[in-house]
Amino acid sequence: MNIIRVKDYEEMSRRAAAIISAQILLKPDCVLGLATGSSPEGLYQNLIRQYENKELDFSRVTSVNLDEYKGLAPDHEQSYRRFMNDHLFDHVNIDKARTFVPDGLNEDSEKACLEYDQLIARTGGVDLQLLGIGNNGHIGFNEPADAFACGTHCVELTQSTIDANKRFFASEDLVPRYAYTMGIRNIMEAKKILLIASGKAKAEALKAALDGLVTPKVPASVLQLHRDVVVVADEDALGLVDRS
Ligand code: F6R
Repeated sequence: MNIIRVKDYEEMSRRAAAIISAQILLKPDCVLGLATGSSPEGLYQNLIRQYENKELDFSRVTSVNLDEYKGLAPDHEQSYRRFMNDHLFDHVNIDKARTFVPDGLNEDSEKACLEYDQLIARTGGVDLQLLGIGNNGHIGFNEPADAFACGTHCVELTQSTIDANKRFFASEDLVPRYAYTMGIRNIMEAKKILLIASGKAKAEALKAALDGLVTPKVPASVLQLHRDVVVVADEDALGLVDRS
């Protein structure tokens, strides 16, 4: 595991964007696994800037997103599809037909998850998976649990995640209770993983993930078993990590 310690959110965004753009330059038809949330917003802005400066071409890139709230339509203000359109896809020359997010409107969880797994397989597999980390150590919506979930599955969100995400909704009641998410196997099958984290709120989760035991109680700890992980995190987020 390669840990890149940076000063702040801005530097994290720049350094992480450089890793993604290197991937696109090396393999223009690569498959990117993408994440939503506040962690990657600055990174996406950097990628947009590089595209505008004609340094980056997304025309052959395919993307698969980690997760989506169950029950939200693609154009819902808080859906992850909408997030991706607003923060990246609408601003670069990616072919939207090759950008994939789990179908939040599919009420048949089993079918929705199976279809997403099949879709990921059809892309040929993820070259670079971008991840944020939840305050409770979740990755995607893989919440602390007794066992690692393998493929795409439907999860009931924990109170900690609802608390962390309610800032985006008019009230807590409006936060969806379920989500579709890639599973740990999907994430671990990516050829390369890029984990980003910024701020003190992530310090305990990052400590447990990087220095603790590998356990489904801290889903991100499984990344210790992947052979190509880069962590780009700022001083606050790495504050409790020994090896930093
Ligand atoms: C988002 C996702 C989540 C977030 C995590 C951190 O697609 O899968 O696991 O990466 O909740 O969220 P932020 O970046 O908002 O702190």
